[in-house]
Amino acid sequence: MNDIVTLTMNPALDITTVTGRVIPTDKMRCGAPRRDPGGGGINVARVLNMLGERATAVFPSGGHSGRALEDLVATEGVPSRTVTIRGSTRESFTVNEEQTTLQYRFVLPGPRLTPREVDSCLHLLSTTAADARFVVASGSLPPGVPVDFYQIVADIVSDLGARLFLDTSGPPLRALRRGVYLLKPSIRELRECVGRELQTIDDQVTAARDLIASGVCEVVVLSLGAAGAVHVTAKEAEHCPSVAVPVVSGVGAGDSMVAGTLFGLARGWELRDSVRFGIAAGAAMLGTPGTALCCRADIDRYYAQLTDHAPVGGRDR
Ligand SMILES: Nc1ncnc2c1ncn2[C@@H]1O[C@H](COP(=O)(O)OP(=O)(O)OP(=O)(O)O)[C@@H](O)[C@H]1O
Ligand SMILES: [Mg+2]
Repeated sequence: MNDIVTLTMNPALDITTVTGRVIPTDKMRCGAPRRDPGGGGINVARVLNMLGERATAVFPSGGHSGRALEDLVATEGVPSRTVTIRGSTRESFTVNEEQTTLQYRFVLPGPRLTPREVDSCLHLLSTTAADARFVVASGSLPPGVPVDFYQIVADIVSDLGARLFLDTSGPPLRALRRGVYLLKPSIRELRECVGRELQTIDDQVTAARDLIASGVCEVVVLSLGAAGAVHVTAKEAEHCPSVAVPVVSGVGAGDSMVAGTLFGLARGWELRDSVRFGIAAGAAMLGTPGTALCCRADIDRYYAQLTDHAPVGGRDR
């Protein structure tokens, strides 16, 4: 039985390297590349497995890069089920610049999926998650996948009786109407979704409450980068700041946060404690290079440093 299943429609083989300075025209000699599995749902599954919570990753995979990705996922001990596609799984390229410590992230579009391949992914999700309590769908959608794809996923997951965690952005986020359990937008993504600046925390809570009131989701965990996160339900809205951490790489903080929050909820913790564990997991990910995994000891250390949640957004309903 698969208690937790993640879906990644646009996975990537993440390649990270280092060079002195990023410059035009001249060749830039780079350090040895590091290869990591990438893509929202795959990262969430990796962190959950690292934490001892078995999560099965479902994703389309094609070409040499797809096989390399599958191997890396298997090497980390993450169970996976894949749909073989004709296109090649994309590669993402991150260059760390030594002289400035700036990070350059080059993200390629994924391969175009055929309607049949999209249907196969949905079918594989339904069978893999038949007995699941939680499904996580995360990341962008590659060409060929309809914009309301995550609504179809939400309906399938509702029919299965599981809870859907969703982390996406842009048109696929705006296309949602119902059936998500927990939505994890970053502030940038929520702003773009509602088309407003959301400068104050009250504005942010109101935007989250509107999504809940319209039936899109039950919980919004709005991540605020260094400022931590606000979680909002129909009944409560609370803010918890993050901790000050050395930032080696921003890759994967949101995925790690989703994994940490789900880890807590899967173990029956209160939402507030689960979100707090998620904030610590997001912070822990920043200290690791590329999409290398954070470790439990860092998460526990940051979790212990976090201050209490404070109510926000005016009256609690
Ligand atoms: N600079 C930081 N310092 C401390 N913690 C951070 C920092 N950046 C991120 N975090 C932690 O990671 C979580 C997720 O980060 P963030 O809000 O940037 O989401 P994201 O999904 O990575 O963003 P996006 O999808 O827009 O790139 C935060 O809620 C926080 O807990
Ligand atoms: Mg994110």
